[in-house]
Amino acid sequence: MGQDNSSLVDDDIPPETLSDRTLAAVAKYIKDGKAQNIVAMTGAGISTAAGIPDFRSPGTGLYNNLARLNLPHPEAVFEIDFFRENPAPFYVLARELYPGNFSPTIAHAFIALLAKRNLLRMLFTQNIDCLERAAGVPGDIIVEAHGSFASQRCIDCKTPFPDREMREHVELGDPPSCAQPGCEGLVKPDIVFFGEQLPSTFFDNRHVPAEADLVLVLGTSLSVQPFALLPGLAREGVPRVLFNLQRVGDLGTRPDDVLCLDSCDAGVRRLAEHLGWIDDLEDMWVAIVGEEEAARQ
Ligand code: OAD
Repeated sequence: MGQDNSSLVDDDIPPETLSDRTLAAVAKYIKDGKAQNIVAMTGAGISTAAGIPDFRSPGTGLYNNLARLNLPHPEAVFEIDFFRENPAPFYVLARELYPGNFSPTIAHAFIALLAKRNLLRMLFTQNIDCLERAAGVPGDIIVEAHGSFASQRCIDCKTPFPDREMREHVELGDPPSCAQPGCEGLVKPDIVFFGEQLPSTFFDNRHVPAEADLVLVLGTSLSVQPFALLPGLAREGVPRVLFNLQRVGDLGTRPDDVLCLDSCDAGVRRLAEHLGWIDDLEDMWVAIVGEEEAARQ
């Protein structure tokens, strides 16, 4: 996994597939039955409303707020070579980010609703918070491109480490060591660090974006490769919708790109309204997170 900064090109060109470059036109395209194989691609921005910071937002992003960990540079907390030398900073963060402490956003619920209506072909996520599963997206159509906290193993002999013991170590901020006799390797959640290969499920499914009839990109700066390449794999003429606070990657440069530059939650609510699904969506979300959490978010 490596860093990348794609440039933005500004082209205001008329659409070829959609009737208009608007969410209303995207909703019509879906309602006309033209989107049966939707591929969604998500990043940390879809979870910020749940209370999990993203990485790169100025001021609030995780990488801006790691001074307390005394790192040589912020990304070091997710670098495998640094982890080998000093796993403690990662375990400070792990305690804060560990799944179970957060609830899905309505944007997660929208993706689950697409799955429920058999319209979601696949979800590619960079997130390690497991909130897509918590919202009800079936695990077999989720590609966790940067891994997740759902399992863990020794970084040397690769022996899996038990979940319950891991939870205890994370709660104490205490990096566990491998339990295999003769191996004293460090244990790390199966999160992809800089310097590590992405999971095989990512490469096994890299052909899927080219088979999509609609691509939704939500809450990502598209600044980390190879994930950042995925939206570009959509065929020409396939509508791509960006739900993000600002433009990223080359989204907006194709004739059927639609930009919704707002919070993911506001954007999916607007699309759901155009689809006539808003009541279903709100009900489904409240059923997942409860009324108190829904009111808090
Ligand atoms: P970033 O922090 O790089 O980007 C998050 C994007 O979401 C930014 O463009 C924000 O403006 C936007 N955003 C934030 N809150 C939003 C909201 N409520 N609604 C809409 N947009 C919002 O996060 P990622 O792109 O996910 O890797 O970062 C990619 C990878 O870099 C991560 O998976 C992580 C990191 O290094 C690992 O840790 C393994």
